[in-house]
Amino acid sequence: MTTLAILTAAGSGTRLGRDLPKALVDLAGFPLVLHAARRLAASGVVDALVVTCPPGLGPDVGELVANDPQVALPVRVVDGGSTRQASVAAGLGLADADVDVVLVHDAARPLAPPDLVRRVVAAVRHGRSAVVPGLPVVDTVKRVAPAPAARRQAQEPPVETGDPQVERVVDTPDRGQLRAVQTPQGFSREVLVRAHREGAERAAAEHLAATDDAGLVEALGLAVHVVAGDEAAMKITTERDLLVAGLWAEEEL
Ligand code: CTP
Ligand code: MG
Repeated sequence: MTTLAILTAAGSGTRLGRDLPKALVDLAGFPLVLHAARRLAASGVVDALVVTCPPGLGPDVGELVANDPQVALPVRVVDGGSTRQASVAAGLGLADADVDVVLVHDAARPLAPPDLVRRVVAAVRHGRSAVVPGLPVVDTVKRVAPAPAARRQAQEPPVETGDPQVERVVDTPDRGQLRAVQTPQGFSREVLVRAHREGAERAAAEHLAATDDAGLVEALGLAVHVVAGDEAAMKITTERDLLVAGLWAEEEL
């Protein structure tokens, strides 16, 4: 019984807008990818790590992570694909035969704590074959009608709002039933491999690709379960997020 963690770090970080990939951006003295790898290792429930890297940067990222004394795990790297889904699929291809549980974690969530990692793996080991961490949603969320371009593509008539800058609300889902989902997400290897195989045609294009792996499992009609998430597992998308994560990191010291 072996748990492999696929750490996705192959994105370019367009919305952060730095001149280097987001996973290599510094947070409190270390690149995001190293923070994430350290916490996966500190959980004590991860046996090996595969890092998906921006093409060409695999050797550098591999050296950085594998030589860190706090990451005492076998580390391999693989070139990521054009979408996160494609990157995860590439990482999955490196799983050794004895791997039975796979975690998928984003370097963009560098401070996801070891406790959270343990919670997800424990739920998978207790027989839930797809497990995601989730937090209650504090905002009221509205579903809006698809944007005009998407409606044109689907050959649906435009929604009349009278103003191209506004969107029409379709409905308001009951907030009590919503969860904001994080990573790491945990899966039985068999289920994750099947989900990626059957969803493979979505992987090439950003507008079709799954934004998380659980979405691919749901598409198979299989159950996905939620365990309690953690605010520290916040995702870094913008400069503001990086500032907030800096405060979290300080608090940890
Ligand atoms: N990722 C990946 N391969 C891709 C795209 C994303 O491995 N082709 C990884 C990112 O490195 C990140 C995680 O998936 O750790 C979540 O993606 P996101 O937050 O969207 O990061 P980026 O794609 O790098 O950012 P942006 O969308 O702003 O360019
Ligand atoms: Mg992205």
